[in-house]
Amino acid sequence: MNTPHVRLGVIGAGNVGRAFVEMLTDESRQIALLDGATAVLDLVAVAVRDLDAARVGVDRALLVDDALAVAARDDVDILVELAGGVEPARTWIETALRRGASVVTANKTLMAEHGTELARLAHENGADLLYEASVAGGIPIIRALRTSLAGEKINRVLGIVNGTTNFILSQMTSEGRDYAEALKEAQDLGYAEADPTADVEAFDAAAKVQILSSLAIGTALRGEPISREGISAVRSVDVEFARRAGYVIKLIGVVERVGEHGLSRRTHPAFIPVEHPLAAVHGAMNAVFIEGDKSGPLMWLGQGAGGAPSATAVLGDVLHAARNRVSGRHDVPFSVDDRLQSVDAGELSSVFYLSLDVRDEPGVLAQVAGVFGRHQVSIQSMEQSGFGREARLSFLTHEVKARDVASTIEDLAQLASVDSIGASIRVIDGGVA
Ligand code: HSE
Repeated sequence: MNTPHVRLGVIGAGNVGRAFVEMLTDESRQIALLDGATAVLDLVAVAVRDLDAARVGVDRALLVDDALAVAARDDVDILVELAGGVEPARTWIETALRRGASVVTANKTLMAEHGTELARLAHENGADLLYEASVAGGIPIIRALRTSLAGEKINRVLGIVNGTTNFILSQMTSEGRDYAEALKEAQDLGYAEADPTADVEAFDAAAKVQILSSLAIGTALRGEPISREGISAVRSVDVEFARRAGYVIKLIGVVERVGEHGLSRRTHPAFIPVEHPLAAVHGAMNAVFIEGDKSGPLMWLGQGAGGAPSATAVLGDVLHAARNRVSGRHDVPFSVDDRLQSVDAGELSSVFYLSLDVRDEPGVLAQVAGVFGRHQVSIQSMEQSGFGREARLSFLTHEVKARDVASTIEDLAQLASVDSIGASIRVIDGGVA
């Protein structure tokens, strides 16, 4: 019997692309098939932006600079898109899918914005569209949600899905750094970009929440925007208060069922109880914590970025797509639950932390407490720390609606005795049975 060959075209030879090509050894190119036979992966082209830039581990004879031509090549059975961004990646992927080639991508932005229609296009053309590396790099969360947990009702997903912000918050917690120092450290180590906005303002995490929600709960990939708050307002005093109260601050992505058909998708900093498994996720690591109806709590931990970890996810997808091709199959796209309604983040209740810098004068606390009371925001505990004529008031509320906290803050800002208002941070409840 002839050994089947499955041919790969790669677009992009950055960190992940290079690591992926280096992983294509003679051994890993052999695909074990169920009947004991093997198929072989052949790399036929690697499209790069600059043909002259040196790339360790990539055979120069395979390099081309026309990515669209690679996507359109008849002899490319699987297109591996590792360039990122919406366009021209979307055009390359559509080109490959339309002619029935499968696609493996690490492109979270594209999948978050156009995943639903691309998945449909893949299905119509009998092809696979696989994107394990797009969320939490080397953690195999997408296949777990798609297959192992396909029959489970998932009530909540809490993810630390951005390594840069987890590194920054970890440095603030364990090394006592302030936000600016920790960000600089993250930039020096290559975690954060020179412009860190995508990470620190949680755009990156929001795209990952979008993808996770489609797989965990069945929402269309493109839908209403994810409610998004980043970490740039978190200060050392907040981290310190959290520590004293038995919490650590993490940027989390949340996908949560609310009632029968409600769904909340959001990303924001949160107080996590120190005994929660997510509190032990340090540095640039990622983790995804799932609360299943029957499974109970589940957690995955691992490297969410970096060439080699992400490339393992890409290679896993490539081998899966290759086996499917050899056996004439493709994966059926996930189903979308049309009954789901997005719940406004303002309508959700939780315990909140907030802090204010105020003048330390008679009557100020009464004024502040009055504003809380007018908005039905009940105070659970309060701590005052002083600075001469200035004082900081830190509060933990009882369970209150986020919108009532927002209107409390608006009114507090009008008080002459309030100098500044810090971050308001939700406290995440239990979750471990
Ligand atoms: N910048 C991301 C992070 C990795 O810090 O986790 C790519 O999504």
